[in-house]
Parts: sequence; C-alpha cells; structure tokens
Amino acid sequence: MPKHLRFDDDGVPVPAAEEDSPEPSEPPEPSEPSERDEPLPPWKGIFTKRGKVRPPFNPSLEAFWFKRRELFSKFDRGVRLDVESWYSVTPELLAAHMAARLIRGAAPRRGKAGGGLLVIDPFCGCGGNAIQQALHDPTGAVLAIDIDPWKVEMARHNAYLYGVRDRIQFVVGDAMALLPRLRADAVLLSPPWGGVDYDEDAAFDLSRDMLPCCGLRIFDAACAAAPAVCYFLPRQTDRTQIAELARRHPSESCELQHVVRRSGSANPKLAKKPPKSKALLAFFDRMPPLGVPPGVCEVEVDDPAGPSKDG
Ligand SMILES: C[S@@+](CC[C@H](N)C(=O)[O-])C[C@H]1O[C@@H](n2cnc3c(N)ncnc32)[C@H](O)[C@@H]1O
Repeated sequence: MPKHLRFDDDGVPVPAAEEDSPEPSEPPEPSEPSERDEPLPPWKGIFTKRGKVRPPFNPSLEAFWFKRRELFSKFDRGVRLDVESWYSVTPELLAAHMAARLIRGAAPRRGKAGGGLLVIDPFCGCGGNAIQQALHDPTGAVLAIDIDPWKVEMARHNAYLYGVRDRIQFVVGDAMALLPRLRADAVLLSPPWGGVDYDEDAAFDLSRDMLPCCGLRIFDAACAAAPAVCYFLPRQTDRTQIAELARRHPSESCELQHVVRRSGSANPKLAKKPPKSKALLAFFDRMPPLGVPPGVCEVEVDDPAGPSKDG
C-alpha cells in the first residue's frame, strides 16, 4: 500500500504502520471497486459543509478547502477526495493543460490528428488527470490505475460527476507490475512525490525521493508502454536527472515546461515579485519537433490557474 498522510491527535503526521485505526473517511475494507454506474452514496467527509476540518483530521488541511474549486470546478456536485488526494490531486486547469499538450503532441504522430488516443494514467489517484484526459479526447480512452482501491472508487465516482465514466477503464493494481504488460499511445505519469516526507524546499532526487520506487525506473516502464510520456515532476527536480530522462528516451529529447504563477497583485511592489515556480512538466515523444536538437528544451508556461490573488 502507498504511504498515506495521516495525523495523530496533535496533528503530527504518522506513518501508516504506526496508526491504530484506519482513516475514518474510508469505508470498511474496500476490496474491489464496484462496477456500478452511479455515484457513491452521501458520506461524511473530512470537511463539514462550512469547510471546517472534522476531528481527527489535521486543521491545516483547511487551506485546501479554499482551493476546492481550483482542484475540481464541479466540486459542489459531490466530488470525493481522501486526505492524500486533497494535497496530491492535479488541479483541474493544470490537468487540462497536460491533456491538451499531450494530445497536440502525440495525436498527429500516431495518425490520429483528431484525437482517439489510448492513454494510461498509472497513478490515477482520485481522477484529476484521467478525467481531463477523457474530457479533452472524446474519441479516446483512458486506462486509470491506482494501487489503492478506495482511490479508484473515488476516481470512478468523480468521473461519473464529469460525465466521462464510460471513457475511463479503472483498474486496482501496482502500476510497476502492470505497465510492462500494457501498450498505449501515451502515459501520463503523476506518481507520489514522497508522501509525508516530501519537502518542497529540498532538492528532489528522482532516484531516491519518488514513491513508490526510483523515478527513473518509473519513466523506463512508461517508455516501454508508450511512445509519448508526460511526467509531472516537482519544481526542484535535479536538472541533470531530467537530462538523463531525455537520454533514456528514444527521441533523446524532452520539452520541459516550467509552470510559473505570476503575482496578480495591484500593488506595484508585489507585482514586481518574480513569478513563483509551481511544478515541472516533462513531455517526451518519439520524434522531436523538426529543427529541435536532442536534449532538454526548456520553456516557461503560465500556471493555467492564472496569477495568484495574494500577490
Ligand atoms: C500524486 S497521486 C496522483 C494524483 C492524480 N494525478 C490526480 O490528479 O488525482 C499518486 C497516486 O499514486 C498511487 N500509487 C502509489 N503507488 C502506486 C503503485 N505502485 N501503483 C499504482 N498507484 C500507486 C497513490 O495511491 C496515489 O493515489
């Protein structure tokens, strides 16, 4: 099982092995996800209707509540998230950007200019990426995998709310065991960046810090399954390792997008603040764009969510 972020009564994260009881938001013993084609029944989540964190969850999670419609614009329809998903889901506009870029790059080269790609999302969580991929490519299909059955159940429910339940096939399983047996047009990689141990300010070593295993190995497994790969990476990922990913890919090249959020403040002093780097998106495809030499081509893209309101 993956490492979940859980907290003791004092709000201190505890590794899964040390906890006494399962997280109260989870249903008892979720085994196989159901095949039913309807949303999950109402439940008591982490937040009250007014956005207060229910005990025993960490009150600091409240910050995520304010971003709920940034994570899912249809949040109010009844989107389901567990604690880990609140902080690890790909925000909707970023997931939409990833899907659009993946389709733009991969579809024409597969002779599918109008879309119709088969895309694997091997670490699908509660469905942030898989849902946007399905929405952006109505004639395509998505295979969404997660090792946690409850995440798959939530992703299925959320996909239902977005009307794309039928275009996503959900599988509970270990991505590293399944990827070698799969073939697709593209793989969208959004593995966990270290669970409770993830430190936003420390250098990120792909070979050591990525869960569930070495980030280079995850990349190799994705490359064996599909010619196009999009890798969602922490902004502080070691650049020499990104160059190493490009060398490992048959194209020997990579488009590295720095997702930056600019200040939206009206205050001239704050407006001058340098843009904040949010994350890296590394796109690989079998054929580099014409005229682009092998290696890493770095570009800056504005966070699709727009400028920050707080400056
Ligand atoms: C960063 S989250 C993915 C979030 C997802 N992109 C979204 O938008 O909802 C990473 C997910 O990987 C899953 N995971 C961890 N190890 C796994 C493995 N070996 N195979 C499949 N899924 C795994 C976790 O359960 C978690 O849901």
